[in-house]
Amino acid sequence: MKTAYHIKLSAKDISGAKTALLPGDPGRVEKIAKTSQGKKIWNLSFNREYKSALCEHLDKPILVVSTGIGCPSLAIAVEELAQLGVENFIRVGTTGAIQTRIKPGDMIITTAAVRLEGTSEHYAPLAFPAVASYEIVTALVEAAKKMKFSYHTGITVTSDTFYPGQERYDSFTGHVIREYRGSLSEWRKLGALNYEMESSALFVITSVFGLKSGTVCGVIVNRAKTEKPDDKIIQRVEMRLAKVAVEAASKLK
Ligand code: URA
Repeated sequence: MKTAYHIKLSAKDISGAKTALLPGDPGRVEKIAKTSQGKKIWNLSFNREYKSALCEHLDKPILVVSTGIGCPSLAIAVEELAQLGVENFIRVGTTGAIQTRIKPGDMIITTAAVRLEGTSEHYAPLAFPAVASYEIVTALVEAAKKMKFSYHTGITVTSDTFYPGQERYDSFTGHVIREYRGSLSEWRKLGALNYEMESSALFVITSVFGLKSGTVCGVIVNRAKTEKPDDKIIQRVEMRLAKVAVEAASKLK
């Protein structure tokens, strides 16, 4: 049976799992799988940024695969997982909020994403919308409600860069090109909730493939207040994200 080139998985390895949870960080794969209640297969594969585990929750097999940071590496994972028969993709990540009302520790469930990246244009022109699947947004909202975690739904800005594209000045040169100067407050005025680096590509690719996707992110910093996340918040967010994602995945058809 054919093994996918980058993720080093075959259809047999994933045992018919139709849903994949996609953290960026390989270090979060086991943390997510651990929150499921059924049997687990750790270290299904680990190549480059792609680490995978298989778990079960409420009798549903759920694959967890890290994608690395950013849209190009996520696109490779989605391409190869789709070829193995995965139909539902849930990005599970961390994020910087830009609306003052959003607190560190809150969950953001993205309904649509701004395409401030280049990868998705290899799949569909910019006029094509980057929207999450209704079924996955609904499952994530239901899971966050069940867990009683504070959550927000709305538009996310997906940026190809962590520093200039998200208008960060605490960078090597401290310079942000004219195009992005003032962009954070502009996105805030337009009602966008947060910045992250993968969702718009995920939504466009799965839409053009006829598959489903969604994103849940945990807020580790509010950019209106600080640039530096607190380690305790990151731990709390990781735990909450894992619970919401596993619960939502187990509810998908
Ligand atoms: N990830 C991002 O892309 N931006 C943040 O501010 C935090 C996490």
